[in-house]
Amino acid sequence: MKAFEEGTIGRLTLKNRFVHSPTYEGLAAPDGSCTPELIDFNREIAKGGVGINTVSFAFIHDSGRHLPGQIGIHSDDMIPGLTKMAEAIHEEGAKAFIQIAHAGPHANMKYSGVQAMAPTGMENKKGGLSRTMTKEDIKNAVNWFKSAARRAKEAGFDGVQIHAAHGYLVSAFISPYYNKREDEYGGSFENRLRLFLDILRAVRAEVGPDYPITTKMNSEDQVEGGLTREMMVDAALVFEENGIDAIELSVGTNTDKAVPTVSSPNIDPKTPEEEGYFVQAAKLYKERVKTPLILVGGFRSLEGCERALNENIADFISLSRPLVREPGLVRRWQNGDTARSKCISCNLCREYIFTGRSNGLICVPEMKLAEKGKNK
Ligand SMILES: Cc1cc2nc3c(=O)[nH]c(=O)nc-3n(C[C@H](O)[C@H](O)[C@H](O)COP(=O)(O)O)c2cc1C
Repeated sequence: MKAFEEGTIGRLTLKNRFVHSPTYEGLAAPDGSCTPELIDFNREIAKGGVGINTVSFAFIHDSGRHLPGQIGIHSDDMIPGLTKMAEAIHEEGAKAFIQIAHAGPHANMKYSGVQAMAPTGMENKKGGLSRTMTKEDIKNAVNWFKSAARRAKEAGFDGVQIHAAHGYLVSAFISPYYNKREDEYGGSFENRLRLFLDILRAVRAEVGPDYPITTKMNSEDQVEGGLTREMMVDAALVFEENGIDAIELSVGTNTDKAVPTVSSPNIDPKTPEEEGYFVQAAKLYKERVKTPLILVGGFRSLEGCERALNENIADFISLSRPLVREPGLVRRWQNGDTARSKCISCNLCREYIFTGRSNGLICVPEMKLAEKGKNK
């Protein structure tokens, strides 16, 4: 089965084709450091059989914080906790990646302490107004990403993922919907990619030629005037030329008022043929781009994953909500029980954690079932 064959990202060999997509756990300490609960959570995911466990969006600087309990990779003080996290993931046989992120227009002043920054200042969903970044801010952001990547490497992570999706800072620069700048960081397609390329080059210089650097980017923005699939393919080709090691395709402009597209659509595929929300974009990518494609979104059965791999729609399959429901899903499949994931894509995990109704990431239907069992 292709799903359980080895794969490679850069010089790194992976035991299979399954990736845990970064999924905000909300379990870090108030200063962003790793807690035992956060480490245990990621240990369970690694134990569940994925080739890569990507730890969720770690803020690279206080100004880029979005949510409470978010992991920090903004200071060297975080390294001891991150080291324990990478060790736990390795002990369970998975490779450890960490997503490095700045929330840009969607940073929350309540946690960041400062006004949000964006390529072009705008109102976000919560009514906060971001400010337009100066050249100095841009230079700082590049340095924050660079230092974050150094910390990830020092802590023993096998690779970093630059968060360039969901309307966050880098995604917002790439998107013509968000980026209305008139300097060399805005306007033309080349200019909108400049921040990403500055970051990629700075991170590469810091971590060396053999260290895997991936990115999660939007396959399209799904908003008028935003990034299209064709632009995504053109951008991926530029990233490829500049040495990106893998690209994860997603969707969503996050929380912008006018554009409520989210990265985890509330769509539950009923058959393996329906699986993969972004298959059409992936097919376009595969026509021209050679860089390994990690496809996330809407994969629920081994058959659906296997199909996407065999038809060369993707090189790796990334899972988020199915592993919230059942961290051991991949191992179960590998052991021969190939029943579909029990995830029904209800998005209650997202709703509960993003609104603070749950203390940490939980599968709500699973929790309700457990409560029913207890009450019997
Ligand atoms: C609760 C929750 C938290 C998420 N946190 C992140 C995150 O930190 N970074 C990210 O890139 N995507 C995040 N996502 C998006 C997922 O990684 C994934 O792209 C999306 O859920 C689609 O995959 P799925 O159908 O397998 O759930 C999150 C999704 C959910 C439901």
